[in-house]
Amino acid sequence: MPVPGVSIRAATAADAEPIREFDRTFCVDDLGLERTFHVVATEPGTGAVGGWGVAGPDAATAPGSFTLRLSVRPDRLGRGVGGTLLDRLLDHLRSSGATVVHVWLRELDEGVLRFYLRRGFVEYRRTCRLLLSPLAADLGAFEPLFEGVKQQGVEIVSFDTELGRGFDALGAWHRLVRAEERPSETYVQFLERAAQRWTIGGTLHFAKMGDAYVGYTSLALPYLDPGAEGDPGLVEQGYVRVSEPFRNRGIATALCARMVEVARWRGYHTIRSDVAQANAASLAVHARLGYVEAGGEVWVRKSPV
Ligand SMILES: CC(C)(COP(=O)(O)OP(=O)(O)OC[C@H]1O[C@@H](n2cnc3c(N)ncnc32)[C@H](O)[C@@H]1OP(=O)(O)O)[C@@H](O)C(=O)NCCC(=O)NCCS
Repeated sequence: MPVPGVSIRAATAADAEPIREFDRTFCVDDLGLERTFHVVATEPGTGAVGGWGVAGPDAATAPGSFTLRLSVRPDRLGRGVGGTLLDRLLDHLRSSGATVVHVWLRELDEGVLRFYLRRGFVEYRRTCRLLLSPLAADLGAFEPLFEGVKQQGVEIVSFDTELGRGFDALGAWHRLVRAEERPSETYVQFLERAAQRWTIGGTLHFAKMGDAYVGYTSLALPYLDPGAEGDPGLVEQGYVRVSEPFRNRGIATALCARMVEVARWRGYHTIRSDVAQANAASLAVHARLGYVEAGGEVWVRKSPV
């Protein structure tokens, strides 16, 4: 439904500057050709940009799956700008054959969440953002964690050290992955995927029992919004996994404790970890190490569009 004073047009490169005034994460690459893109010009007389939106195919998921993003100028909130942009993007997606559209809400803002829920979106994933300062961590308190797993015959070892002494670390990692996570993954596919990980070199560690690996984790590069400035002191706790028969023995806690040590040695001031709210075990691991909650993220989707 048209809203007085809000008109929609396709964005051009000249809109980048006014958009960046209220959305510093916007970058000109968002005008990529395979994406559709619209801004809203409020105050038809002046043509001032009151908000922008973008929708594009979601490369990581199935055909027909799209994501969209909206951003409204703070001084134009509550005037129908966001709703008008969303209607326009949804119209476009329907005519492009979209079957599902996802929105990732980077901050747990209940008002924004309600905006989408009222328009037929449903929440399907919520994460807690957890932070820890490795500089302030009491590393001495971690010793009993390492000792606890050692008494069960488990050692936390570095991938690089293992390779250096001639152990087939990649083979052992692949056997662990095949056993539970990806039963049909070939060694070559596994190597390709391993090479694409955002793991920071030298931080990959395993929990080792005899000649077998039973868990792993690493530090990872933090996700950055396009155009956002990185913080070299911030690092991400990478994916952590422990083989099912070895869970609830303190192994993930010891692996993540080693990551805190590694982060401290490398001078990072903050480790960030985004954990699904439904993952009680992972939340318990982080709480044990002293991570504190700092907001979170929500994913919503609409299907059919
Ligand atoms: C999450 C995961 C890595 C934990 O591994 P783990 O070796 O069993 O972890 P630990 O034994 O060190 O610690 C488990 C903690 O969770 C708690 N826990 C386990 N199941 C729980 C449940 N259902 N509800 C509440 N707490 C639970 C345990 O009591 C323990 O906490 P405590 O040390 O304070 O007693 C493991 O479950 C896993 O590999 N899951 C699949 C991959 C995954 O989800 N990774 C995390 C992505 S963020």
